Amino acid sequence: PPRIPDSTNRLCLKEKLFTISYQQSAAMSTLLINQPKYAWLKELGLSEDNDGVYNGNWGGKGEVITSYCPANNEPIARVRQATMAEYEETVQKSRDAWKVWADIPAPKRGEIVRQIGDALRKKIKVLGSLVSLEMGKIYVEGVGEVQEYVDVCDYAVGLSRMIGGPVLPSERPGHALIEMWNPVGLVGIITAFNFPVAVYGWNNAIALICGNVCLWKGAPTTPLTSVAVTKIVAEVLEQNNLPGAICSMTCGGADIGTAMSKDERVDLVSFTGSTHVGKMVAMLVQERFGRNLLELGGNNAIIVFEDADLNLVVPSAVFASVGTAGQRCTTTRRLMLHGSIHDVVVERVAKAYKQVRIGDPWDPSTMYGPLHTKQAVDQYLAAIEQAKQQGGTVVCGGKVMDRPGNYVEPTIITGLAHDAPIVHTETFVPILYVLKFQTEEEAFAWNNEVKQGLSSSIFTKDMGRVFRWLGPKGSDCGIVNVNIPTSGAEIGGAFGGEKHTGGGRESGSDSWKQYMRRSTCTINYSKDLPLAQGIKFE
Ligand code: UN1
Repeated sequence: PPRIPDSTNRLCLKEKLFTISYQQSAAMSTLLINQPKYAWLKELGLSEDNDGVYNGNWGGKGEVITSYCPANNEPIARVRQATMAEYEETVQKSRDAWKVWADIPAPKRGEIVRQIGDALRKKIKVLGSLVSLEMGKIYVEGVGEVQEYVDVCDYAVGLSRMIGGPVLPSERPGHALIEMWNPVGLVGIITAFNFPVAVYGWNNAIALICGNVCLWKGAPTTPLTSVAVTKIVAEVLEQNNLPGAICSMTCGGADIGTAMSKDERVDLVSFTGSTHVGKMVAMLVQERFGRNLLELGGNNAIIVFEDADLNLVVPSAVFASVGTAGQRCTTTRRLMLHGSIHDVVVERVAKAYKQVRIGDPWDPSTMYGPLHTKQAVDQYLAAIEQAKQQGGTVVCGGKVMDRPGNYVEPTIITGLAHDAPIVHTETFVPILYVLKFQTEEEAFAWNNEVKQGLSSSIFTKDMGRVFRWLGPKGSDCGIVNVNIPTSGAEIGGAFGGEKHTGGGRESGSDSWKQYMRRSTCTINYSKDLPLAQGIKFE
């Protein structure tokens, strides 16, 4: 049987029948990892039961969880999570490892990150396949997010020779005024199911070159991806005779997340997930005056003006609302259309929705896979019900699909008020609300009136409007685009958003500053003691 990226359509009938009957008999009793079709999982070092703790040694004495494939709800393999005692031990080992790591010069730390990037490159297809199998996103997107980790490694390698502070002019003779940047220490990284590789990668590569050690807790529903990534990283550290606890992992649920948030030894908590949970994390971290870096919800809009190039608009709207089955924090949830083009755009987008190829996420021709969990399917149905009650009309989709796995139809809803409660709610499913506007002022105001502030796009050819959009009265989001969709950001820019999105910035630009602490240093190299502001104290 073929590897996951290959299309099963290419099998001959006999092989197909074998695969089907084998799957049916095995489904009840066996984990997918034991089926020949999924034997490639072993290339990632995975087995039936996997250790969910790494701190230089592998362990996991806590609750055993089973990871399920969202495309068929069959069990893939199991992971043994961390106990509180193992969490304690891991934090201690990470802090010990920091003493070694902080002494290594930044460009040498960059060399280790370069090796991590290379190790990921070698496994990019098989790791992308695991993401596809476990998270449910399509194969190219699974590979794509490993590519984001690789890209950020490359970026971090260069950065490892560049980061630092300025030497500022001192007002006092014989004095130097300089800025020093030091690592914060231990960075706790809590990631979400929807980008089980990339989000860890952005944090990990940048935090490492800054001189921090990392402790990762991935989503409880994507533990195999956390284990597989950590195995790749651990091998690099071990080959370089470095302590494995530089990149620790404790798989677990809310108990581990809460412990990290409360723990004074975790200098920075980087959290990606819902606004609801992010707020709890933020309060716990703030209570101890710790640092947090939050990447929370989005409620992203595309605004299409009357002069827009509709040949760009239609594929952009489809990619950003249907892609990843609506499960990106950058997914387009609101499509605001100028009254003059509203009907034609709805018609064209709805037509394009019907051409989206739905199927197994690992089949290369598939464009749209399942939702990650059964709960998400319930949320999808509840949101459609609420939208109807609030005056919406379903013009496309709206139903759960009759096939195994958590498949729902990508959905377009028109006719809602811009401030209907459901339109202001981030539901992490493929539902697009279409709103009709008349003026630029109105459209910009609607973009900004939601609590979230992650990503936003306009489609126009009007240069004045473009710069108004980028300016103080334009979009209030962290990501502000023109003639491209809201999702699919590159790693070179700072990624994150304002308001209930949490305010954090990860990945490119000067995001590295979030992983370091700044000291303002004044050094007197004269024989006098002049005071600032000309004060005489004698
Ligand atoms: C997320 O959905 O959590 O811009 C991150 C994008 C991706 C990252 C999304 N590069 O859509």
